[in-house]
Amino acid sequence: MADWTNVPEAQALSTDASMTIVVNGTDIALCRDEDGIYYALSNRCPHRLGQIGDGGVENGRVICPLHGWDFDLRTGISPYNPSDRLQTFP
Ligand code: FES
Repeated sequence: MADWTNVPEAQALSTDASMTIVVNGTDIALCRDEDGIYYALSNRCPHRLGQIGDGGVENGRVICPLHGWDFDLRTGISPYNPSDRLQTFP
């Protein structure tokens, strides 16, 4: 059975949006897609460490706010360059 962590801030997150949360000392980008499904990904972009939680969500991808790299919400993989990815969390 998974260890679940309650994230009260998640209720305030709109669809197609992201925010930064800290869970057990780990910086996480919490994202919500247009269907209201939540995703948790690492919060630092592999390009220049932009804070992913300050970006936006569009068409199932989260967009880094610094230079616009995008990452698939489900896999964390960049469609532009699959070797660039964010860690995903259950
Ligand atoms: S730091 Fe994320 S795209 Fe540059």
